[in-house]
Amino acid sequence: MINTSDILAAAQLLKNGGLVAFPTETVYGLGADATSDAAVARIFAAKQRPQFNPLISHVPDAEAAFRLGDFPKQAVILANAVWPGALTIIVERRKDCPISLLCSAGLSSVALRVPAHPVAQALLQAVGRPLAAPSANRSGRISPTAADHVRASLGDAVQMILDGGPSTVGVESTVVRFTENGPYLLRSGGIPREVISTILGRQVIDPTRYDTDLHSPGQLESHYATQAQLRLNAAAPEWREAYLGYGDYAYGPWNLSKSGNLQEAAANLFKMLHVIDDSSPEAIAVAPIPMTGLGEAINDRLQRAAAPRPKS
Ligand code: TXA
Ligand code: MG
Repeated sequence: MINTSDILAAAQLLKNGGLVAFPTETVYGLGADATSDAAVARIFAAKQRPQFNPLISHVPDAEAAFRLGDFPKQAVILANAVWPGALTIIVERRKDCPISLLCSAGLSSVALRVPAHPVAQALLQAVGRPLAAPSANRSGRISPTAADHVRASLGDAVQMILDGGPSTVGVESTVVRFTENGPYLLRSGGIPREVISTILGRQVIDPTRYDTDLHSPGQLESHYATQAQLRLNAAAPEWREAYLGYGDYAYGPWNLSKSGNLQEAAANLFKMLHVIDDSSPEAIAVAPIPMTGLGEAINDRLQRAAAPRPKS
């Protein structure tokens, strides 16, 4: 596993503008010094990511986040209740915010997250600067929940991969945007919507399709794509389909959670999609997953993985 000298070496690479993949409890991130335009530009190149898609900056604690963004009272309450954890908060940049404008991709806002993973924490402490980090996969592909996934997807494009074992949450952070009228849920994720509503004592709103500036530019319809076509809400596999089960919908070797536990299903989701996809089936059928709690994030990722692909 990881020792102090690995962390120090990674921190040195990052301070010099390099790219280091590191574990978080949601998925692995492809990290760079968020205050350096050149370093952030390297992330876009390595991921082959469209430049308009802004990046999350990671910091060691809520206080550090409060120095970078302008947090309304409700955002402070949510941050203090959930961080460190699987939550990203988007607020307006403070005037003196040192984060590269490339991270905001032309927007006046900034996305901030305090990850809980001990390796991510140690790295952030050692670097002493915010780290920009999208999921450490090529743009549009399945997110990595293990160091091997990063190696397979990015290879030499990343200078160092810190192996912190499998990500325990398994889906990306929930993204919440605060404005005067907010809070808006831009992306479902590791912290269920119900949990956020309970903490804030109000519903988080879904942006309507007219709130174009509130949409997460990263929420493209086709994302997390497997090589094989996916068929969702499938009660059973059809001829030549591999099957990804859930609970009593069980055929073959892969089941997100035999006991029907959504937390276990989220942690298994990307790993099992990677494994099934590597076996090159003609198609993959996926069992119905309930829409409660983490089920919202799981269904969101599955729908994007199943969406028609842009022609390349
Ligand atoms: O769990 C996670 O969030 C992982 C780990 C590594 O922290 N990171 C991650 O980053 O999923 P990424 O880049 O794959 O997704 C970030 C999402 C995208 O949908 C992006 O469009 C959105 O956050 N986003 C970032 N900054 C934004 C902003 N200022 N306004 C609106 N959306 C923003
Ligand atoms: Mg991603």
